[in-house]
Amino acid sequence: MKRVLKFGGLLGVAAFVGTAAGWTQGGTPAPVLPPVPQAVVTLKIETDKPVAKVSPTLYGLMTEEINYSYDGGLYGELVQDRTFLGRNDTEDWIPVEEGTARGSVTRDAGTGPSAALPASEKITVERADAADRYGLRNRGWWGVPVRPNTTYTGEVYAKGDAASAAAKVRVSLIANDTDKVLAEATLPALSGDWKKYEFSMKTSGEVTASATNQIVVSVDKPGTVWLQLLSVFGPTYKDRANGNRVDLMEMLAAMHPAFLRFPGGNYLEGNTIPERFDWKKTIGPLVDRPGHMSPWRYHSSDGMGLLEFLEWCEDLKMQPVLAVYAGYSLQQEHVNPGAELEPYVQDALDEIEYVTGDVSTKWGRERAKDGHPAPFALNYVEIGNEDQFDRSKSYDGRYGQFYDAIKKKYPALTLIATTPVKGHAMDMVDDHYYRRAEQFFADAHHYDKADRNGPKIFVGEWATREGTPTPNMGAALGDAAWMTGMERNSDLILIASYAPLLVNVNPNGMQWQSDLIGYDAFSSYGSPIYYAQVMFANHVGTETVASELEGAGDRLFYSVTRDAAKGMVYLKVVNASSKAQELKITLDGAKTVKPTAKLVRLSAATTAATNSITDPKRVVPVESVVKGVSKEFTRTVPGYSIEAYEIGVQ
Ligand code: AHR
Repeated sequence: MKRVLKFGGLLGVAAFVGTAAGWTQGGTPAPVLPPVPQAVVTLKIETDKPVAKVSPTLYGLMTEEINYSYDGGLYGELVQDRTFLGRNDTEDWIPVEEGTARGSVTRDAGTGPSAALPASEKITVERADAADRYGLRNRGWWGVPVRPNTTYTGEVYAKGDAASAAAKVRVSLIANDTDKVLAEATLPALSGDWKKYEFSMKTSGEVTASATNQIVVSVDKPGTVWLQLLSVFGPTYKDRANGNRVDLMEMLAAMHPAFLRFPGGNYLEGNTIPERFDWKKTIGPLVDRPGHMSPWRYHSSDGMGLLEFLEWCEDLKMQPVLAVYAGYSLQQEHVNPGAELEPYVQDALDEIEYVTGDVSTKWGRERAKDGHPAPFALNYVEIGNEDQFDRSKSYDGRYGQFYDAIKKKYPALTLIATTPVKGHAMDMVDDHYYRRAEQFFADAHHYDKADRNGPKIFVGEWATREGTPTPNMGAALGDAAWMTGMERNSDLILIASYAPLLVNVNPNGMQWQSDLIGYDAFSSYGSPIYYAQVMFANHVGTETVASELEGAGDRLFYSVTRDAAKGMVYLKVVNASSKAQELKITLDGAKTVKPTAKLVRLSAATTAATNSITDPKRVVPVESVVKGVSKEFTRTVPGYSIEAYEIGVQ
């Protein structure tokens, strides 16, 4: 059985020519066996025939507080539960009694440093001295990473009673196994009023790098001390105060993401309306942020607040795709369109002003006060998240009200609907796909015949859910097949993002299986599809070119683009079969072809092959130089492989 897939001719439209066995457009696949691939499959590329523009913003990131993505993840805070809520399901603050020291710890609901943090941790020290201190230990986010010659900075709000005025309050990094002090700082004497104390601690060159450490705050004299917001940071990306973990930011930077979709996902909506991402409570000094319960059932510090999301964008040169809360929360709570919804619409307008307004605007001024006078560029605003799940069917009305108000004030913004609506303009619709690899193989041509006159598409969440905590090679093959389809149709799909992005791999760290990047307190790793995404993003091109694949079965996928200014053709080939495939490639329309090409290949012997925190580099891309490239050349594409070629063509 012969199968020809042809891309080109009509702008951006793929035509199935011949017998595309097993494929019935828009319906269930017919129960016929898939075609058997020919011994040699031919891929004809017409390098001089551009078909459609490739979106320069196609590949981006989607993020939310899930799987301890920020707290215990990207956000550089080392203290777990820095506001002493004691509510997370992981161990956080534990009393420390050195030798004969004795005391007690309670939550004091009656005193705190701010309206947002009205309670505090009350430490009553009955007996303690310089040798035997009393205090509390925090084991961090499943460990505290400590490295040699490294500075750790922190802050804490504290006050003491008269008896504690002579006490020395110390913050230290302590090794779990040896109890050795690795770094420490002593606060100035406390007073009876709440004050913020900043400190810094430096490790020596003798310290062994590890995460088996804890943070201890201790007191050396009897008396009562109240603490709130005890925060410790190690080095952060670009040395930002209140910034992000360096290793994870470097991994994200390598993906060359064009945008960041935030703050969710379900995290935007919250389980209930009061648990939504209420952006005004996430800005300003940390002491003014109460934090809130995330729908993934742990408390979020909101240290990663609206401005931190924007600074994350700035650091990685991404544009924000800002999702605004649109009056629907996950436990089927909704706000009726009309007067009831107005305050939420106003909140969204204020939020956009906070992002984009100059300092003459109310919220632009507020952003300047928070430390960022320059406005951020914003093109995309998403109205809600997955509103198809709102059983009250109120989205049409809610969307319309947000759309009209935002368009009126910000006509240049592209507004994204989370599900198709009736009776209102839609600039873009957000489609989500969580699938098995086989489903992505079968649907890799999903958008080939999609209407080009309707709204643009944002594939805001997609992933093959195979492998845990991070997906395996089989999932990467499903995802890469899907990516060839998104790239081929990126005249329509302007932006696309995999989800979820991050997972803390410790026990209880994960709420959603199959996440792109895994980590613990100390190190991080990419799943095979992380690497495949890096490969695709590094070889994106500016336009697709006409092409035709002949004789392939149903497990071979490709995308071919070019960058005429660079004289480069980018070819991605995905062989999701266990068998190697001979592929004859012809480069028609080229005057000259560079005889060597760069090849990046990700492959594995089995679909179960994967990376993990203990074996992070089992499946990684390998770079090589392909010789003998010409207007017609043949390659053997190994089974279970994803390849990206850079071919010089004039
Ligand atoms: O990515 C995990 C969740 O999947 C997102 O929060 C939600 O939008 C989707 O249902």
